[in-house]
Amino acid sequence: MPAVGGFDKGTGKAYPGNLTPYVTVTCVVAAMGGLIFGYDIGISGGVTSMAPFLQKFFPSVYRKEALDKSTNQYCKFDSETLTLFTSSLYLAALLSSLVAATVTRKFGRKLSMLFGGLLFCAGAIINGAAKAVWMLIVGRILLGFGIGFANQSVPLYLSEMAPYKYRGALNIGFQLSITIGILVANILNYFFAKIKGGWGWRLSLGGAVVPALIITVGSLVLPDTPNSMIERGQHEGAKTKLRRIRGVDDVEEEFNDLVVASEASKLVEHPWRNLLQRKYRPHLTMAILIPFFQQLTGINVIMFYAPVLFKTIGFADDASLMSAVITGRVNVLATIVSIYGVDKWVRRFLFLEGGTQMLICQVIVATCILVKFGVDGEPWCLPKWYAIVVVLFICVYVSGFAWSWGPLGWLVPSEIFPLEIRSAAQSVNVSVNMFFTFIIAQIFLNMLCHMKFGLFLSFAFFVVVMSFFIYFFLPETKGIPIEEMAEVWKSHWFWSRYVNDGSYSGVELVKENYPVKNV
Ligand code: BGC
Repeated sequence: MPAVGGFDKGTGKAYPGNLTPYVTVTCVVAAMGGLIFGYDIGISGGVTSMAPFLQKFFPSVYRKEALDKSTNQYCKFDSETLTLFTSSLYLAALLSSLVAATVTRKFGRKLSMLFGGLLFCAGAIINGAAKAVWMLIVGRILLGFGIGFANQSVPLYLSEMAPYKYRGALNIGFQLSITIGILVANILNYFFAKIKGGWGWRLSLGGAVVPALIITVGSLVLPDTPNSMIERGQHEGAKTKLRRIRGVDDVEEEFNDLVVASEASKLVEHPWRNLLQRKYRPHLTMAILIPFFQQLTGINVIMFYAPVLFKTIGFADDASLMSAVITGRVNVLATIVSIYGVDKWVRRFLFLEGGTQMLICQVIVATCILVKFGVDGEPWCLPKWYAIVVVLFICVYVSGFAWSWGPLGWLVPSEIFPLEIRSAAQSVNVSVNMFFTFIIAQIFLNMLCHMKFGLFLSFAFFVVVMSFFIYFFLPETKGIPIEEMAEVWKSHWFWSRYVNDGSYSGVELVKENYPVKNV
């Protein structure tokens, strides 16, 4: 029986190619698409903890938080309108990532990125100028549409552009820019909150135009991926592009495989319906479970609500925003570790190590919160070092996420789907991610109110489940060319029964029927 991790010896294929300056610059520019997502994640938590913002748009939350000192600490910020402000964006992103599947497939990855940038820009302007709650919500919905397009197209773009040996590192550029976006937003919140007159939140929200312009301009100057050009019938151009990207003339084998994959994908009339076929069961399972589990690590509780959470634990306003800056910094640094390691160490190791680290920290943080507030939420007066310990463990938790589920949650799905279902499956991945981001954003404050410290234990439970899932069901994908990924499932102890039933690959069908000559 094949090993639990399945295939890890490579497919025997080794396409020639280098990490050229051209591909590096291209991937760095494209990866900046993650900035808009990150900026938004980081900005909302800080803004919703700014008193002038709450006073203007959510006065009842403000009164409850600022004036009613007797309220149970666990329930201080529990307001559905406030969470709707944060979460509405993710529902919009979910919807637009479904539309983006068709745009990405039919018109190329670049156009989706362009739409992403433009929509996000419009949302940022409306939010920065907001005078009423409805303007905030409309702005958030436009931001969400932008994120749906960008998150659908950028990871695919990166995985297709990168030479397979460096695919992990280049793809994690996307996650790195998410984390940089979060950090920049945290820092800006910290300073803008100090602006006299209380209009700093306008700068925080309106500042989103900057990352939006970066991706908009980026999408105009970036080249198309060879895969996408072939998919749209531009074979000659694709071959020339592939030579330029790889920095070698001998791209025949890779090019031919791309053409074969593209022919196979043309045999598929309905990528969405296709996804439901038995042979795509492993892909569909990963497209659903990886983003689901990524969100159930509980990371966004920290990302969205760190300032609110730190305030709940008893920090002053300023210290809460500062602590968010600290966790944001740890997030960026740990992502860099994963860029360094992802193509050296196996992906499964990173998943399992990160999971263990998160689990330990969640149990410790839950215990600390229990000691501080007990079961009924009455704060005890505890020494300062106690708060420092909590922040420290939250940092260790964030670093565990940042070198495992954070980047791999985007990398692994973008590299395992065959071309014929790639866009559709990636949309499933993005929409499941957005749906659970929405759920966490929408119900976290309410869950904190009801489950109290136990909330952190429930995330710990899911971390155990997801680690078992990775151990038994995720094959290793490091060092496998993207169009050769079929082999990985064929030799997996569990998934082989789905893909080895004689009908697996459209690619094989095409290879038999249309042997590709040099184009
Ligand atoms: C996740 C986000 C999360 C971020 C934190 C991303 O991979 O999709 O939901 O907020 O990582 O760095």
